[in-house]
Amino acid sequence: MEIVVVPEYAALSREGAARLAAVIRQAAPDAEGRVGPSDGRERAAGGHCVLGLATGGTPIGVYRELVRLHRQEGLDLSHVTTFNLDEYCGLPPDHPQSYHTYMRRHLFNHVDLDPHRARLPDGMAEDPAAECACYEAAIAQSGGMDILLLGVGTNGHIGFNEPGTRFDSRTHCVELAEKTRLANARFFPPGEAVPRRAITMGIATILAARQILLLATGAQKAEAIVRAALGPITPDCPASVLQRHPRVTLLLDQEAASQLPKRAASLPG
Ligand code: F6R
Repeated sequence: MEIVVVPEYAALSREGAARLAAVIRQAAPDAEGRVGPSDGRERAAGGHCVLGLATGGTPIGVYRELVRLHRQEGLDLSHVTTFNLDEYCGLPPDHPQSYHTYMRRHLFNHVDLDPHRARLPDGMAEDPAAECACYEAAIAQSGGMDILLLGVGTNGHIGFNEPGTRFDSRTHCVELAEKTRLANARFFPPGEAVPRRAITMGIATILAARQILLLATGAQKAEAIVRAALGPITPDCPASVLQRHPRVTLLLDQEAASQLPKRAASLPG
């Protein structure tokens, strides 16, 4: 597990976006239609790139920086497919607090992504179990995620996989923990309830990504980070399972890294 600590949020956002942009550029076909070197694992043909994306407060700066790279430095996303980690059940895609709306607001409306290739679970699906299976199949058919951007909850959740989630879980419906609903209430107008259920990629879905980039900022995440990086690998802290993945980076600000022993955290020069 690589641990990168940066001084503050702006640096974290630049570094996170630079890492996503590197994967996007590597997959872009050149003028002759050739694709750059892959990491050697099987991937879908055609020079496309598959990103897994998170919502929440933390990645907003990364999306802002990706939009800047697109506008000012010509970052091409036309060959990119995206799959979001999760969506609330019961919120239609145009609901102001849905993750569909979040993604349009922060990224999709501002770059050249093909809207048909920007996927989120359908929180309004009549048959949520069928929707979960369909989402899982769509990720597999795309060739799998080249890189997955994650945040982490103060209770160690990743996606909406709350403590206790099985490590072999695939995309599924969940009851949100009260702690998570409370944390997310800040995104909802006063008096409007945070939904109780969501669809989320499972832990096994997350681990199948070829590369994982987890972002965390602020002292409130410090305990979850130390448990994720150094604690026992246990469903009590879902993020601890990332220790089993061969290619994970924790990208942290100093406060989120504040409970890590000095030797565990590398400050970039
Ligand atoms: C969001 C998601 C969640 C968040 C986590 C941290 O798609 O899956 O796991 O990443 O709750 O949220 P913030 O960034 O708001 O602290």
